[in-house]
Amino acid sequence: MKIIKLDAIDSTNTYLRQLSNTELLEDFTIVIADSQTAGKGQMGTTWSTEKGKNLTFSVFKKISCLDVDEGFYISMATSLAIYNALTNFHIPKLAIKWPNDILSESQKICGILIESVIQNSKMTAAIIGIGLNVNQTTFEIGINASSLKKITGIHFDLDEVMFQITNQLKKYSRLITDRSFDILKTEYESLLFRKDKPSTFRKLNGDFFMGFIQGVDEDGKLIVLLEDEIVETFDLKEIKLMY
Ligand code: BTN
Repeated sequence: MKIIKLDAIDSTNTYLRQLSNTELLEDFTIVIADSQTAGKGQMGTTWSTEKGKNLTFSVFKKISCLDVDEGFYISMATSLAIYNALTNFHIPKLAIKWPNDILSESQKICGILIESVIQNSKMTAAIIGIGLNVNQTTFEIGINASSLKKITGIHFDLDEVMFQITNQLKKYSRLITDRSFDILKTEYESLLFRKDKPSTFRKLNGDFFMGFIQGVDEDGKLIVLLEDEIVETFDLKEIKLMY
């Protein structure tokens, strides 16, 4: 497994994508940086963390067996890999907040940004970007974020945590290769934050509604049970879970 360690870079995802355009990369090539100057988050947001205290890394995963519209299985596999690695470090009350935030004690400790590499309309690889708050202990007020150290009081070795996550990622990637999608989906849904609990959501237009998360459909959209037994699916751009 090739690991490229950088002091600072704009974004490990961007760096890895550019690298993949210029050379043939080994499966599970990793780019890790002490700090990112333009870290990317989901839906055009930015991801910024304190230098040297957290994990910001990207993994190049070759994909040959997925259609372009099956990308959500990579998201499931990655969430499960991180969840299991953190379980092994005894991080309490873990959950996966749809689509792929990892929470501990209802606070976000990890974000994932997956970008597909498409060639001739086929997915050939995924760039799996992982931002895990590890040893940082102060966060902006009001953003509901935390870290492994803030939650447990323990200082973690960054390399060790990254190694455990990539090991789990290798394990869960095999389920993608085998197209064992049912196994992935069942485990993913069982760990979803606020599954089957009455929850409040906010729509794009600012309206609030109540519903029960039931799971995800084959496109990764969230299935929510609404009033009068109506079931609707939503994508990430449409709703925000309030918690
Ligand atoms: C989110 O918004 O929750 C996703 C955050 C993903 C951040 C990681 S940090 C490493 C990789 N490089 C990036 O620019 N983003 C991802």
